[in-house]
Amino acid sequence: MGGSLGEGVLSRAAEEGSVPRSGFRRVEGRLTCRGVELEELAAEFGTPLYVYDGEGIEEQVARFQAVFGEIPFLLAYSVKANGSLAILDRIAALGAGADIVSAGELERALRAGFPPEKIVFAGVGKTRAELIAGLRAGIRSFHVESAGELESLSRVAHEEGRAAPVGLRVNPDVESPTPHAYTRTGHAASKFGIPVEEAEALYRNRADDPNLDFRGIDVHIGSQIMEAEPYLRALHVVLGMVDRLAASGIRLEYLDLGGGFGVGYDGGAGLDLEALAREVIPPLAERGYELILEPGRTVVGEAGVLLTRVLYLKRSGIKTFVITDAGMTELIRPSHYEGFHRILPVRESAGAPRVIADVVGPICESGDFLARDREMPLPRPGDVLAVKTAGAYGFTMASNYNARPRPAEVLVEGAEAHLIRRRESVEDLMRGETIPPRRASGRAPKRPGSP
Ligand code: LLP
Repeated sequence: MGGSLGEGVLSRAAEEGSVPRSGFRRVEGRLTCRGVELEELAAEFGTPLYVYDGEGIEEQVARFQAVFGEIPFLLAYSVKANGSLAILDRIAALGAGADIVSAGELERALRAGFPPEKIVFAGVGKTRAELIAGLRAGIRSFHVESAGELESLSRVAHEEGRAAPVGLRVNPDVESPTPHAYTRTGHAASKFGIPVEEAEALYRNRADDPNLDFRGIDVHIGSQIMEAEPYLRALHVVLGMVDRLAASGIRLEYLDLGGGFGVGYDGGAGLDLEALAREVIPPLAERGYELILEPGRTVVGEAGVLLTRVLYLKRSGIKTFVITDAGMTELIRPSHYEGFHRILPVRESAGAPRVIADVVGPICESGDFLARDREMPLPRPGDVLAVKTAGAYGFTMASNYNARPRPAEVLVEGAEAHLIRRRESVEDLMRGETIPPRRASGRAPKRPGSP
């Protein structure tokens, strides 16, 4: 559970109030983002509110490019982590590409200025319409996840009169130690990827299909992985495949090792990218393959906070509840993955008693919480709290459940705050709905004489 992850250590890190590689800092007791006070943003734009550190995002992109840039390298940012246009715009401007999973993400990526030749398209259930959209856009590669999809893609490519660029997404049958079962994708029982033997047979059997242009190979073993080791096992599997394929004359351009590089939700360091690079770069350099990585969380996770205002305090039985205006509709990670997020007061109040509390939202679900059994200074109603490391899978997984408008988003850059998405209105919630005319009597007419 959220409360069982070594809270002592975590709350000590939280007390320090500053995060490595992050633009969020406490200055004279107040949390700021690159000099902008979070409390002021909450007052100006309202809560719940997502605030992003633009420079932090840019630093992470640059870090990947520096660490892996020794060999031909494409950072294909995973749009699902945070697909807001302004964020995508900044990432595209740094020369990165995009990893997408739907026609919607394709459109977002194109509008934000990602060149199509830097876009890779994954997903187990791409529709015909999505395959057509990707082909017409001229994307770098489709990451195909089943024999059936490969067949559909070949057919669509034939109809469209152009060969489809393809990489098969392989299931390497690697166990990945992620914090929750829902974020593991590399084991045989997962719906993702094609088993090694089948994938290899597909490369061989379809090598002469004029509608398919095999460009690469792809694996993604899970999310929030803190060690290099599972990646190296997946790399080993994939290298074996590309070596065997190359020996039989099927030469690919790139190896895509997916994303999933862990960040420090506890305030500590994330996965050691430099250590990973030391292992990954030499075998690729030796064989002359381009490397593609698809980080999402590592790029935007630590660069975002969710600001929420305390509405009420409530004590019931043995529990203390801090009731906030944000909950699972704004940030579903605690509820859905038992994900841990540090929660800090935006303004420190000296002398606030420390309590063990559940931080809960207003949604009518017992599973609606941001933290459970969390040691924290007792806030007062009206105080603003910052839920840390919320830049990834925060807004993108927000919902309108309980008819709650989704929150606004602000991007801080050069000590200026830009509203990059206005808060939804109640009107927005009903957009697209229609009420058909009622039938004349309201019920099926009774036949005369019937009871
Ligand atoms: N590539 C593929 C094929 C993926 O499926 C994913 C994530 C990524 C890259 C990026 O993974 P990242 O670097 O962001 O970990 N909602 C969950 C995470 C689900 C990840 C789904 N796929 C969470 O909040 O933890």
